[in-house]
Amino acid sequence: MTGPAIRLQDVGKRYRLHSTASSFAAASAAARNLLLRVLKPGRVPAPTTGHYPGEFWALKEITLDIEEGDVIGIVGRNGAGKSTLLKILSRITPPTTGRIEIRGRVGSLLEIGTGFNPELSGRENVYLSAAILGMNAAEINAEFDKIVEFSGVASFLEMPVKHYSSGMYMRLAFAVAAHLRHEILLIDEVLAVGDAAFQQKCIGRISDEAHSGRTVLFVSHNMAAVLSLCTKALLLQEGRNTKTGTPHEVVSTYLGQLSELCPERSWERPNDAPGNQLFRVKAVRAVDPGGKARARFSNDEEWFVEIDYWSIVPGSKLGTTLAVYDRMGSCVFGSLSNLEPRWHGKPRAAGLYRSRVRIPGDFMKEGIYKIAILLWAEGYTDQFRVDEAVEVEIFDSGNLRGDYFGGWEGAVHPRLEWHCEQLDTLVARAG
Ligand SMILES: Nc1ncnc2c1ncn2[C@@H]1O[C@H](COP(=O)(O)OP(=O)(O)OP(=O)(O)O)[C@@H](O)[C@H]1O
Ligand SMILES: [Mg+2]
Repeated sequence: MTGPAIRLQDVGKRYRLHSTASSFAAASAAARNLLLRVLKPGRVPAPTTGHYPGEFWALKEITLDIEEGDVIGIVGRNGAGKSTLLKILSRITPPTTGRIEIRGRVGSLLEIGTGFNPELSGRENVYLSAAILGMNAAEINAEFDKIVEFSGVASFLEMPVKHYSSGMYMRLAFAVAAHLRHEILLIDEVLAVGDAAFQQKCIGRISDEAHSGRTVLFVSHNMAAVLSLCTKALLLQEGRNTKTGTPHEVVSTYLGQLSELCPERSWERPNDAPGNQLFRVKAVRAVDPGGKARARFSNDEEWFVEIDYWSIVPGSKLGTTLAVYDRMGSCVFGSLSNLEPRWHGKPRAAGLYRSRVRIPGDFMKEGIYKIAILLWAEGYTDQFRVDEAVEVEIFDSGNLRGDYFGGWEGAVHPRLEWHCEQLDTLVARAG
């Protein structure tokens, strides 16, 4: 082994907004030749250097080693530079600064419109893509039928791909990218295109690739797919690589940027705290099993809601309620402390109390939730409610999905046990 599969050193990409130069550079070779004939030499845009108003850096100071066999998930907000990074690696666009070393043949599946020649038929494009990768006729023939079968566009193979629907185009492009012999595969947002069944097929194929030792760079907004398929991940933020780590670490950091959550609220003095003449709320917090306040939990881990409150009047019999609301304001579930054996229905001394309720893992669905709490006195009287006491996010670890990555129906995502048995044999009868 001679080093990493991909090495990026201080790579940056500067775009100039509304620049003739950049659109000129992006044009196909044929279009450029035509333009060169039409434009006088003096008017051909020169390469750009220096600082220009309206320019900006889509990628900045990216330094990174990607080892052979790594499956890297690249996440980040819209416009963070993810596609730009893949375009640079696939040599669709050159970097403005820095150095790139790539060991191995690169196959890519980027945005629609890259890769295939629109005038050529599906069949011709498959052969052309293979030839570009240096495969000989025997190697191509060996893969051809598999590619066509995977793509599901067999009846349109002789048609120029410019007449394909975007779904058909993507199917064939993915089939080619997934079957040809390159050591490095770049995939951008492929899951956004195509129907659910094809997305499933793509995920399955990426998973095979990941296990076959190929190096894969996978840009996606589908966090469950990144968590399940990738061995490492990196987070791009305004063109910079702000975090590299395990998919779990990177995805949690990314989700943390997306919303400001509030795992804890507290009030120092009973007089200022919400409540009534019987009790006052001191704090509400979402905590992990170690008691640490946290805003994010994966859907397969357990966590707790703690409610600290002062019981003011000696002899009061108090209880607590939890209500969990989704982003649309629908109550997903609620729970009362009236099955709690130690204190329910029992008189208390005045003092500070903590009620804790366990939210099991393998139960909630991914999403952002607002939590309301209620305190009440004997007979569910004297209720006092704190709406939106805390806000937490449940993210999908992918562990409850098996090999399915599509949408999930319903308000919760419980792990339920399935059992299947064969009851009879289907016997074909003659006559
Ligand atoms: N050819 C171009 N000329 C000028 N600006 C560009 C060009 N291509 C991309 N950009 C800009 O560069 C920035 C990074 O774009 P990029 O497509 O890499 O983002 P992304 O992370 O892939 O976003 P998304 O999640 O929306 O796909 C954006 O602000 C985009 O508008
Ligand atoms: Mg993109």
